[in-house]
Amino acid sequence: MNAQIERAVEHFRALLEEQVARASRLEAAAGAGEAREGRTVVGVIGGDGIGPVIVKQARRVLEYLLADEIAAGAVELRQIDGLTIENRMARGEAVPADVLEQIRGCDALLKGPTTTPKGGTLESANVTLRRALDLYANVRPVRIPAEGVDWTFFRENTEGEYTLGSRGIELPGLAMDFKVITDAGTRRIARAAFDYARKNGKKRVAIVTKANIMKKTDGKFSAICHEVARDYPEMEVEDWYIDIMTANLVNPALRARFQVFILPNLYGDIITDEAAQLQGGVGTAGSANLGSRYAMFEAIHGTAPRMIEEGLGDYANPESILRAAQMLLAHIGRAGQAERLGRALEICCESEKKCVVTGDVGGATCQAFGDYVLETLRAGNL
Ligand code: IPM
Ligand code: MG
Repeated sequence: MNAQIERAVEHFRALLEEQVARASRLEAAAGAGEAREGRTVVGVIGGDGIGPVIVKQARRVLEYLLADEIAAGAVELRQIDGLTIENRMARGEAVPADVLEQIRGCDALLKGPTTTPKGGTLESANVTLRRALDLYANVRPVRIPAEGVDWTFFRENTEGEYTLGSRGIELPGLAMDFKVITDAGTRRIARAAFDYARKNGKKRVAIVTKANIMKKTDGKFSAICHEVARDYPEMEVEDWYIDIMTANLVNPALRARFQVFILPNLYGDIITDEAAQLQGGVGTAGSANLGSRYAMFEAIHGTAPRMIEEGLGDYANPESILRAAQMLLAHIGRAGQAERLGRALEICCESEKKCVVTGDVGGATCQAFGDYVLETLRAGNL
């Protein structure tokens, strides 16, 4: 046992040194934007399971909305293959090196869900990409218009439980994982959230942690968010614990008052699934992963392996990836097209609902829904 403890301590020392170095790199790079000029390259990645089915429809919609820009060479949609569980397993790489190289040649990505094996050593492609491209802000909007609910979650996307999630320690009868929070990593997500709130006329920002228990990490996260908040004196800033906030979201008497949320990684992961479910299901919410150089837009849900097993892949709902495509359009400076898609989705998913995807043979196919969105865009002159 002693030798095992020694090995674990050595492992921990190496992690600590690596993370201290990462924290100072972050500190040094703070505020440096790296936006590229010229043509905007949008990488399109199908992923696994229902991924290629839903991404295909989102791609059609992007092709339609960006037709002029694509023809003029201002925007390129570039298919990127090889981010599949088969290829990743065969290569033993979460994101195979040549795929990552192609991805680095893009400005923004539209990505279908990818399989994350439970256990084993292969890391999640999502987590790897978020880390490799330093996509620190996971932005997830959720709306329930009938109730006046309009939430935007700013989930820290590279730290917390995710930084070293696959590099914990195991001794006989015991396992230990690590959670990492840095000043610079927290400052940038807090700034992204407050800037968004200011630009979008929001008044209230909720900082959500479990700082009563995770005293060091969540304590730091909360303290740094409050430091940043001083630059936004017009905001009403509140502290909430994640457990009661989880309850608040299902409390109709209270929930409409929340606007912008800032959360460490894992709490943000969990609560955004809950929020998406309240909006109509995880199939309905889009998700943006933003960094200072790259941005990745994806569905909030997974690959739906059960649908594939049951032969229902063609009945997958593309709403979530279409919402992600809407966020992508806004991000690449095509606010007009983003709004048009937003209006079409409102008609197709909320007001008119002429074609409804239910996830089984009783509902419409993914392709039919894609047709419906395109027809709505064309017919409504949206
Ligand atoms: C999400 C997903 C991912 C996460 C998985 C697929 C690794 O749940 O984007 O919320 O845990 O972040
Ligand atoms: Mg999740």
